Amino acid sequence: MAEPTVNAEINLDQLKKIIAEYSQQKWPLIPLLQRIQNEFGYIPSQSIPILAGALRLFPSQVQGVISFYEQLYTRPRGKNIVRVCRGTACHVRGGKTILKLVKKNLGIEEGETTPDMEYTLDTVACIGVCALAPNVVIGDRVFGHMNPKKIEHLMKNRNR
Ligand code: FES
Repeated sequence: MAEPTVNAEINLDQLKKIIAEYSQQKWPLIPLLQRIQNEFGYIPSQSIPILAGALRLFPSQVQGVISFYEQLYTRPRGKNIVRVCRGTACHVRGGKTILKLVKKNLGIEEGETTPDMEYTLDTVACIGVCALAPNVVIGDRVFGHMNPKKIEHLMKNRNR
């Protein structure tokens, strides 16, 4: 399935205003990246050279920091984030099958977003509720004790 475009135009004036807000900070890169992500929903590729220039860094240095932090995204994210746990407890209780079924239902792979921008699929190492394994999180809601039947039902009814 095709992914949503990542080259959408962004408001450059808005971007420059955000950069200016952080110009007096000593180590502004990470807070600035977080702020840009909050503003645009992700870190648009067009912002990287502008940001690098303003901070006197190479674009590759900015890109390196973005790549290092899992919570920074260079692609648009869906309205709903679906997280499938791949931690040990979830894995031994069928997490792999749950992930396979979520991928099949959404028609996307891990890290991808549906073309309608409704869902982004992520996997996580452990969400901290191993007793309920295997787990899936949609938005901020945890769905525990998943099995193929339950996940199929959850996916089918996700828009209701
Ligand atoms: S391993 Fe899945 S919640 Fe801990």
